[in-house]
Amino acid sequence: MTIDLLFPTPVYRVVDTENFLDRPRLLESCLEVVARREVQDRLSNPFHRVASSHLVADRLHLEPRFSGLKRFVEKHAGKFSRSLGYPSGKPRIRQMWVNAGKPGDFVYPHAHPGRNVFMAGVFYVKCDKRDGISILSQQSREEPEVTTPLSTTGQYYEGQEGRLLLFRADTLHGTFPQKGDSRVIISFNLALDDAD
Ligand SMILES: [Fe+2]
Repeated sequence: MTIDLLFPTPVYRVVDTENFLDRPRLLESCLEVVARREVQDRLSNPFHRVASSHLVADRLHLEPRFSGLKRFVEKHAGKFSRSLGYPSGKPRIRQMWVNAGKPGDFVYPHAHPGRNVFMAGVFYVKCDKRDGISILSQQSREEPEVTTPLSTTGQYYEGQEGRLLLFRADTLHGTFPQKGDSRVIISFNLALDDAD
């Protein structure tokens, strides 16, 4: 007999080991965004139990202080999209926002569907190792007695400062209640533009 394993869930990950990005400055910029009055006023979103600029300030990629991160993300998104079979596409950020959590904060499992959203991702500016992200299966099924490589429904990535994760926009993901004091991440959605 044979059991075939079909349809992978690709997750691209890379760490900024060469410090291409100035993380202390990025952190400062993120905290300034989250401290804005309009962001503070929207903290009651039931799907994001975390301070997030998602609904009110999601065009951070257009601000010069985030341009280095934009280049970094789009460079890696290009590599990822080529490996997914889009050699002539140029992934470009369309939304970019900040989440800044406090202990106990979490984000329910969700995906990033939307018109022209090809890929989504997250960059860890500041975090505790214990505050990572879970990538989850879309399928619901009877909980197995023992999880085997064929019945796993999730993969946990621990928190790592300076790491970028990219995944298809329909990939389900979420976080557990935050354990560390501070967790500041930048999220983004990308569209696949034609190369010019
Ligand atoms: Fe998300």
